[in-house]
Amino acid sequence: MPDAFLTVRGIEAGYGGRQILSGVDLDVVAGEAVALLGANGSGKSTLLNTLSGFVRSRRGSIRLGGEELAGLSPHRIFRHGIVQVSQARDLFPEMSVEENLRLGAWTRGGDATRLLQSVYASFPRLAERRTQTVQLMSGGEQQMVAIGRALMSQPRLLLLDEPSGGLAPAFVSEIASIVTSLKRRHVTMVMVEQNLRLALAVADRIVVLRDGVVVQQQSAGGDEEQIVRQIYL
Ligand SMILES: Nc1ncnc2c1ncn2[C@@H]1O[C@H](COP(=O)(O)OP(=O)(O)OP(=O)(O)O)[C@@H](O)[C@H]1O
Ligand SMILES: [Mg+2]
Repeated sequence: MPDAFLTVRGIEAGYGGRQILSGVDLDVVAGEAVALLGANGSGKSTLLNTLSGFVRSRRGSIRLGGEELAGLSPHRIFRHGIVQVSQARDLFPEMSVEENLRLGAWTRGGDATRLLQSVYASFPRLAERRTQTVQLMSGGEQQMVAIGRALMSQPRLLLLDEPSGGLAPAFVSEIASIVTSLKRRHVTMVMVEQNLRLALAVADRIVVLRDGVVVQQQSAGGDEEQIVRQIYL
């Protein structure tokens, strides 16, 4: 395995007196798409939020490209290039697609026009709808806008929290093609995904979280039944 780009060691984090993550270790190689699986409440969102700094780690190390990020503010971590698309997506519904996209470049610098062209090249549908307000778009299209906006900030590591969450099953293949196009761009990703089939279809590697620790790491070509057992039993 090549050297990891993201190296997480012994991360402990939680809320108030309640510990949720109890020593998480995780390696992600540059350009890799890792799917983070686990039952509801196993700590998946908490782990993403700890990587992006919204939840402070109490112990452990988070290194990106060799630099230690644990303990930095979300703002500083974002400047280092860890960009998260949350479960809620946080779009501005009354603004247009393009206005929402431009906000991504505004927050981390970069040539917005060039970045827009590159996002539109990956997601032609956003180019077609550039002037439409986001509230009029379908759930799958809104997810595309949220991911497009994250790309506008040129992430070194993209964190996706349940991109298919809340969407009709018909959108799942759409999310798969979004993630596939991110992989073509060599975007390094950690993606929480409840839909096991989707995770197996798009990810290079599967990581299973259980009660705040990683219990399984394997290539996405692995035994599906065994993964299900790891998650739920
Ligand atoms: N802001 C918070 N304050 C207090 N407790 C929280 C907070 N967010 C999450 N928790 C608790 O932490 C635990 C892990 O939650 P988390 O959201 O990380 O799980 P998850 O694996 O993402 O679950 P899901 O699949 O339902 O999204 C849960 O018991 C949850 O109730
Ligand atoms: Mg979650």
